[in-house]
Amino acid sequence: MTPAKARVLPADVAGLRDAARALAAGGLVAFPTETVYGLGADARNDQAVARVFAAKGRPSFNPLIVHLADVAAARAVCVFDARAERLAAAFWPGPLTLVLPLRAGTGISALVTAGLSTLAVRVPAHPVAQGLLAAFGGPVAAPSANPSGRVSPTTAAHVIAGLSDRIDAVVDGGACDVGVESTIIGLDGPGTAPARLLRAGGLPAEALEACLGGALVTEADPARPSAPGQLASHYAPRGTVRLNADAPEPGEVWLGFGPVPSDLNLSVRGDLTEAAANLFGHLHRLDAMGAARIAVSPVPEVGLGRAINDRLRRAAAPRE
Ligand code: TXA
Ligand code: MG
Repeated sequence: MTPAKARVLPADVAGLRDAARALAAGGLVAFPTETVYGLGADARNDQAVARVFAAKGRPSFNPLIVHLADVAAARAVCVFDARAERLAAAFWPGPLTLVLPLRAGTGISALVTAGLSTLAVRVPAHPVAQGLLAAFGGPVAAPSANPSGRVSPTTAAHVIAGLSDRIDAVVDGGACDVGVESTIIGLDGPGTAPARLLRAGGLPAEALEACLGGALVTEADPARPSAPGQLASHYAPRGTVRLNADAPEPGEVWLGFGPVPSDLNLSVRGDLTEAAANLFGHLHRLDAMGAARIAVSPVPEVGLGRAINDRLRRAAAPRE
């Protein structure tokens, strides 16, 4: 069923029509979002969703995010409380995922939620993602379009390098603007339970806290994540990674942040937005260079720096 090599589709009307047709036929189609490229499948088609797990080599207990065209489509599959409505109004479309109680009888495949009673939903802002959702006309389950555990893709070329022989097509919409995955907020407890930050991401936690008028609760125990995908080793380049390096040791390639004489730099002017946009592309480049040992400059733990440090810590975590 899957062709030997993925088709690269243009991000125009004809390309989106082909992509939507492939999704409707149960195919796997990668597409750009403002955060990273997603690997899309019809969220109501068990077989298509199963193929997403197989293509990524993803543990099937790790649920997927469902992408929808607008908040009305999200309300049809999840229960929104007042806080969910407020966050959706403020930040959708955009790099925010909400984990909410799943409605009964939506037709969403149980493989998408890995059997949980909650569903992760997101309305992406990228015009190509919006175009694909409109052309397809249904919910699209999409994890990041990378082999499980490896660096997420921010270009169509990254997708092809990792998954070319396992997917049907990729819509080429250029490089992703934000560069790190969406921020995930859990609002699945009783109405009084605090909102939980399940994954730091492209929308800074500070902006969410300002909107909600209170602090987010973070994971009590990072070793037992409640977002099942938040396993320790993830986002890993092939080389080993050493964090908070003020200088490289002999034999290390230096990934810098700020005005330092590094080999590659996330942002010479120390800009966190620029650093987030460069992060995964630079890790892919280090793989292409064959870097065996990578030293990384410290990155401040504020705003998008929280998402960048989260990904870097997982890239540096011991591998299985
Ligand atoms: O920016 C993004 O979010 C990208 C683009 C493609 O939208 N997608 C993405 O998906 O990062 P993925 O599969 O790489 O990460 C989804 C995360 C995982 O950590 C997963 O465990 C968590 O969302 N998740 C999904 N459903 C959940 C649920 N019901 N409860 C808790 N966590 C959930
Ligand atoms: Mg991922």
